[in-house]
Amino acid sequence: MSSHLRLIERFEGRSAVVAIIGLGYVGLPLVLRFSEEGFRVLGLDIDQRKVDQLSAGKSNIEHISSSDIAAAVAAGFEATTDLSRVAEADAIILCVPTPLNKYREPDLSYVIGTVDSIVPHMRPGQLVSLESTTYPGTTEEELRPRLEAVGLVIGETTFLVYSPEREDPGNATYSTRTIPKIVGGATPACLEAGAALYRQVIDRVVPVSSTQAAELTKLLENIHRAVNIGLVNEMKIVADRMGIDIYEVIDAAATKPFGFVPYYPGPGLGGHCIPIDPFYLTWKAREYGVHTRFIELAGEINSSMPDHVMTKLMGGMNKRGKALKGSRILVLGIAYKRNVDDMRESPSVILMEKLRDTGAEVSYSDPYFPHFPETRDHDFTLSSTELTEEALAGSDCVLLATDHDAFDYAKIAAHAQLIVDTRGRYRDALPNVIRA
Ligand SMILES: NC(=O)c1ccc[n+]([C@@H]2O[C@H](COP(=O)([O-])OP(=O)(O)OC[C@H]3O[C@@H](n4cnc5c(N)ncnc54)[C@H](O)[C@@H]3O)[C@@H](O)[C@H]2O)c1
Repeated sequence: MSSHLRLIERFEGRSAVVAIIGLGYVGLPLVLRFSEEGFRVLGLDIDQRKVDQLSAGKSNIEHISSSDIAAAVAAGFEATTDLSRVAEADAIILCVPTPLNKYREPDLSYVIGTVDSIVPHMRPGQLVSLESTTYPGTTEEELRPRLEAVGLVIGETTFLVYSPEREDPGNATYSTRTIPKIVGGATPACLEAGAALYRQVIDRVVPVSSTQAAELTKLLENIHRAVNIGLVNEMKIVADRMGIDIYEVIDAAATKPFGFVPYYPGPGLGGHCIPIDPFYLTWKAREYGVHTRFIELAGEINSSMPDHVMTKLMGGMNKRGKALKGSRILVLGIAYKRNVDDMRESPSVILMEKLRDTGAEVSYSDPYFPHFPETRDHDFTLSSTELTEEALAGSDCVLLATDHDAFDYAKIAAHAQLIVDTRGRYRDALPNVIRA
């Protein structure tokens, strides 16, 4: 029996061991899914603290419960920093970060670092799947040669696929299991083995003809969002100048049963995907002499949104005879979107910095962040403000940056002097609310 058929048999019979590298927003839900289906799962991460926490059955992500982690541990899930343990695995799934560097170019150092650390421990008969978002060609140009350099033969001894994650943290309608999964293989045998692996845990697997097609599929999805958010942000500014309610217009347009998808404006793009991934394609397209103008334009409009919010906020303060310098501004929500505990690339933080730089006294309230987290790029030594009547009334302006459901919007409207609403949470005209 050929090697990939033996592997498929092990996937279908649940005797396969699955190693997941990178236990973050993408890796952890996969750990749980494979564990639920009866696979022995190894979780590998370089972060010792995370490994210790997970080994103790504790979750480090808000929307993943500790009881689910504990159930996986009881079922045999082991977290470790020892990457040599990939030797035990039949399938190795890479879910490590793919950020941009300071020149806004792809930073593949986590992916390449991980591959370089595992290849010495790999053996024939394994499948490797890359899930991290990246530009077309990464699997072929970066992963394949590194595996081949240690004598592994792709499509014969070793099976290589790219299968992008489509996780949407906080989405109550779709779960890891019910979100269809794209898989592209380096060879037909690779694709067969990869699709067989994911079919054990995902309801619908969608095979595509190559790893490059799978890589570009993921980018198209995120670019589609970035561009449409850019468009609606531009429409917001036009509508505002014309005195038209953009939310009324979007809701009305969304009644069209075909050909229109509603996107909503906001204070800027956040999260790990939408502000970052499109530029992976921009960078790679240059190699082919193509200039990705839609992506650049959307990026330009979306990243100008915090300045638009600042202008509206200053206008609102000015009308009340107040200068920003020395004013107390309370920012609601520092997560990048509602109801999540993730503040990567959050526009709220950009706004907080702009406010501070203008001399305002900035505070924040966010039920998901009792303390402002320590990050490399931002330094605020702040704790979340409790939304009491006094705190609201005592602020010169309340900036609604992230509309968590946990906020008491009626109370905020009743006590705040001025609310700058960047999310369209207040649909009725109120004397103390301005849209931004
Ligand atoms: N968060 C999302 O919703 C989402 C959705 C789709 C795709 N993605 C993509 O998935 C990938 C992972 O994103 P994430 O949000 O899970 O990131 P994350 O930061 O939550 O998790 C990444 C994990 O990888 C670990 N790690 C880093 N380098 C490592 C190494 N060399 N070896 C082992 N572990 C290492 C980190 O410690 C961390 O625990 C990215 O490419 C991202 O673009 C994310």
